[in-house]
Amino acid sequence: MDIGRFPKLPVRIRWQADHQAPCSAFPSCWQDIGRGQTGSDDSPRFYKKWKLDWMDRGCCWMDEYISCLGARGFEMSRPLLMSFIAKSVCVGVHVCVCVLLCLEVKRAGSIPTFTRLRAGRKGLEPIDGNVSGAWPWRMRSRRAAACAAAAVIVSRRLKVRSQKCTARKILLEFQEACYTPLARLRQVVDAMAVEMHAGLVSEGGSKLKMLPTYIDRLPDGHERGLYYAVDLGGTNFRVLRVQLGGLEGRVIKQEYEEVAIPPELMLGTSEQLFDFIAKELVSFVAREGQDFRLHAGQNREIGFTFSFPVKQTAVNSGTLLQWTKGFKVNDAVGEDVVAALQRGIERRGYKMRIAALVNDTVGTLAGGRYWNNDVMIGVILGTGTNACYVERAEAVSKWAGDIPKSGEMVINMEWGNFWSSHLPRTYVDESLDNESLNPGEYGFEKMISGMYLGDCVRRVLVRMAQEACIFGTPVPHKLLEAFSLMTPDMSKMHHDDSSDLKVVAEVLKRVYGIQNTTVGIRKIVVAVCDTVCQRGARLAAAGIVGILKKIGRDGSAANGVIKRNTFEQSDMNGFHDEVPVHYTSGGRTVVAMDGGLYEHYTKFRNYMQEAVVELLGEGSKNVVIELSKDGSGIGAALLAASHAEYVIS
Ligand code: BGC
Repeated sequence: MDIGRFPKLPVRIRWQADHQAPCSAFPSCWQDIGRGQTGSDDSPRFYKKWKLDWMDRGCCWMDEYISCLGARGFEMSRPLLMSFIAKSVCVGVHVCVCVLLCLEVKRAGSIPTFTRLRAGRKGLEPIDGNVSGAWPWRMRSRRAAACAAAAVIVSRRLKVRSQKCTARKILLEFQEACYTPLARLRQVVDAMAVEMHAGLVSEGGSKLKMLPTYIDRLPDGHERGLYYAVDLGGTNFRVLRVQLGGLEGRVIKQEYEEVAIPPELMLGTSEQLFDFIAKELVSFVAREGQDFRLHAGQNREIGFTFSFPVKQTAVNSGTLLQWTKGFKVNDAVGEDVVAALQRGIERRGYKMRIAALVNDTVGTLAGGRYWNNDVMIGVILGTGTNACYVERAEAVSKWAGDIPKSGEMVINMEWGNFWSSHLPRTYVDESLDNESLNPGEYGFEKMISGMYLGDCVRRVLVRMAQEACIFGTPVPHKLLEAFSLMTPDMSKMHHDDSSDLKVVAEVLKRVYGIQNTTVGIRKIVVAVCDTVCQRGARLAAAGIVGILKKIGRDGSAANGVIKRNTFEQSDMNGFHDEVPVHYTSGGRTVVAMDGGLYEHYTKFRNYMQEAVVELLGEGSKNVVIELSKDGSGIGAALLAASHAEYVIS
C-alpha cells in the first residue's frame, strides 16, 4: 500500500477512535466499531486495516442511519448523519438516502442494508442473516455512485436555496422599509411645502435653506453679444462660450469644453481649486475662433455656475456655506467664491468680469426660460440633486432688501438637505450617512442622487454577502469599499433584460471579481437596484409636486389667483400662495430638468414621471417635465448677459 497516496485519517475518526462514541445516544454499532481502534498508530498496516474498517464502518453507519431514520425520523437521525458527514452535504445525503430507500423498498419489497453491499463485494455471505439473495455488485456500486453524485448536487442546490432564502428575507425587509405608497408620498409633498414656507420666513427656519439668488429677471431672448460660463459642480468641469443674437438670432453659436476634475483638487486647498478653474478658462478663451466676437467696448463677462450651497450677497458674490457631493476644500468654506475665482483669473494676467454667480438649478431654470415662458422650476438630478423656482418676492419674509421691480425672486432651495420624518429611512441610509463626508447633512440628496444610489445598493449587497454568503466566502474585499459601485453600473444591471441577466454577471465580475453567480442571485441584485431606484425617483417626484403645491400649480385649486394661506393658518393640505395671474397663463407649468441621472437612467425617469402623475392626477396634464440638456452652462451665460455691465441694445 502506498502510504503517500493514501488519504489521511479524518480527524473526526481519530477522535472517535480515541474517545469511543461521542454521544451515548448513538447506536451500538457505532460504539462497537470505534472500540479498540488506536488513532495514534501511523503504520501502513494500520492504514490498510483502517481502510477496510472504514468501509465496514461506512456501511454500518449508513445502515444505522437508515434504521434510525425509519425508527426515529429525520430529526433524531440527523445528528448521527452529521457526526460522520460534513454538515453542508448532510441534508443532501439525507434526501438522496430517502429517495434511494423508497426505490429499493418498491423494488425489493424490503429495506436494503449497506452492510449487504460490503459483504457482497468481498464475496462473503451477507452478514445479516435475513437477506434474501445477493445483489450484483456492479449494480450496487453504480447506484452508490449515483447516490453520492446526487447527494452533492442536491446539497449544493439546498445550500444555494438557503442562501437565496436569507437574501430574499433581507430584500423583503429592505423593500418594506423603502416602500413609498401614495399616502406616504403625499405626506412628503406636504412636508416639502411646509418646510419651504418655514425656510422663507427666517434664516435657519428649516433644513431647506431657501436661498435668495438675487436673480429677479430671467433671460427672455433679447440678449446679445458674446458671453462665457464656467461650470463647477459635479465630477466634470465645463467652460463654454456663446454668441447671442437677440430675438431674431437667439443662440448663433456655442462651444464648450469639459474636463474631469482631478480628484485631489476636490480635497485640496481653495487656491489650488480656483487656480485650476482660472487656468482652464483662460486657455479656453485664448483658443477662441473668429466666429466669436466681442462688441466694441465690451468686456468679457462670465456666468459662474457653482453648484454648491452659497449664501449670496449680490447677484455676483456669495460665500460658500458647505461642500457637498464629495468635495471638501475646507479653507473655501465661508469664502466669497467669486472673489476667489476673480483672483485666480487676475493671477494669470487676464481681465474678465464675473457678472453672475448661479447655482446649476438656476442656470437650468434660466436656460429653460430663455425658450419657454412657462418654465417656473429648475431641477437637477445628477451627481447631486436640488431645485429652484420663481417665488413672489413678497413671500420671502426673510428678504431684507428692496422688493425687485419684477416682483419675483429665484429661490435656490438646496432641497438635498430637506428632511422629514415621513422619508423612508433605512439602515442603509444611516450607515451611508455616517461614513459620508457630510454626516447629518443632505439626507434627501443621499436617498435620491447619482452620487449615492449605487452605494445604497452596495450596502444591501454587503449585508446579503455577509449574512447569506451569496457571493461565497470570504466576502469579496472590494465589495466592502464605499462607493465602489457607481450608479451607472447600477443602472446597467437594472436595465438588463437578457434572460440570464448576463449584464448583471458582467458588472459583478468586472467591479468585484465575483464569478459564477446563479440567475436567482442576479435577480435579487436587480431587485435591490429596483428598490433603491424606485424610492429615489418617487421621492424626487414628491419634491417636485411639493414645489408645485407651494406655488399653487398642483392642480388642487382653481386656476388663477388663489387666496393665500399663511403658514400658521393653513392645515397641511392647504398650502397655496397667492399666484399672480401672469404665472398661470395657459395653466401650464414647465419644470426644466437637467442631470445625468434623469437623462441616462431610464427606469428612474419613468418611475419619477409615474409618481408625478399618481400625485397630481388630472392636474398632471398641465405639468411638463422637460429635459434641458446642459442647460445650466448656457443658462449661466444667459444670466451673465441679462446682468451684464455693458448691455448691448
Ligand atoms: C448642491 C446643490 C446643487 C446640487 C446639484 C447639491 O449637492 O448642494 O447646490 O445644485 O447638488 O448639482
